[in-house]
Amino acid sequence: MRFKSKLPDVGTTIFTVMSRRAIEEGALNIGQGFPDYPIDPDLAAALVESVADGHNQYAPMEGVVALRELIAHKIEKSYGVDADPEAEITVTCGATEGLYDAIQSVVGPGDEAIIFDPAYDAYEPAVRLAGGRCVRIPLSPPAFAIDWDEVRGRLSDRTRLIIINTPQNPSCTVLDRDDLDALAALIRDRPITVLADEVYENVIFDGRQPNSVLSYPELRDKSFAVFSFGKALHATGWRTGYCVAPPSLTRELRRVHQFNTFSIAAPLQHAIARYLARRPDAWTGLAAFFQAKRDRLAGSLEGCGFEPLRAAGTYFLLVDYGALSRSSDLDFADRLIREAKVATIPLSPFYAAPPSMTLIRLCIAKKDETLDLAAQRLRAFAAQL
Ligand SMILES: Cc1ncc(COP(=O)(O)O)c(C=O)c1O
Repeated sequence: MRFKSKLPDVGTTIFTVMSRRAIEEGALNIGQGFPDYPIDPDLAAALVESVADGHNQYAPMEGVVALRELIAHKIEKSYGVDADPEAEITVTCGATEGLYDAIQSVVGPGDEAIIFDPAYDAYEPAVRLAGGRCVRIPLSPPAFAIDWDEVRGRLSDRTRLIIINTPQNPSCTVLDRDDLDALAALIRDRPITVLADEVYENVIFDGRQPNSVLSYPELRDKSFAVFSFGKALHATGWRTGYCVAPPSLTRELRRVHQFNTFSIAAPLQHAIARYLARRPDAWTGLAAFFQAKRDRLAGSLEGCGFEPLRAAGTYFLLVDYGALSRSSDLDFADRLIREAKVATIPLSPFYAAPPSMTLIRLCIAKKDETLDLAAQRLRAFAAQL
């Protein structure tokens, strides 16, 4: 090799591995987090209209103005705070680009970023590409609670960023007010920025309200908050998201963004703006929609040995198979693909040093028929053990 890999130990993600195995074995894939049902026909129609209306050239670097205005309106409605579309909102290529740009803007060589395991897999590679290092703090199932005293003990004079994710993938937990108070106290008088991954903000259950850093004045001034239209509109392939941050952080983020993707597909932005202008309530039904799916899947697994943990939010449901087997989650998930013909995601790859546990992650963003068939196969598998 004529060059040195910058990420030599980064292989294919567990999502790709399990999806590939699902195809090889003809298994039902309820592992990877994407819907298997169609998008709203009105959203599809809005895209056709946007193309026909000629929105086919570069969009503004920061994002289409009408879309940023609608995002500001949404933030005001959800969190009671103003966000200036000109200076504080940037449309990105999915939340993934927002996360990447935010990390590149504030992490430099030798800096440290704190992340909580089980962690979504996009954070660490971006920190390392910026020359930084992740300090990974493991959270234990089933509560996955953050011990803020432990976090304080892991801070150093190189700590530049703390990445939080609420509702959290894959633990399906949410941070509460006390967590955000503790976080605010922790970074007070320290040169630390917060990156809040809030892509599942509206997929939150049992009457909970999303706890965004945007609604905490002290955190709002020091945070990037990243969101995803892919999740909100059931259209993960549209690769559109946005980042909300105070002007000073947004300026830095845009320095990266303009040479990363420059701007996001114009027809998609115009289509989303059209759709949201007609359907300002597009977000409000998500909690009930996904809660019904969570309850359907959890209910149909009841008593069979696959024990669902109660999910507070996200597209996912964690299931404990400890009553059925003590095998490692990687082995057990592979066995489920081969024998039950159901592909799931084991939890240990989300940890740097996984604790002992018997958890797999199922995706609830699926048609009811898919969830029912998966449950039926898992029950039949458990019954013959
Ligand atoms: C926690 C979390 N953050 C970010 C993303 C990426 O979102 P997007 O598809 O909008 O890039 C995902 C996608 O699954 C996610 O689960």
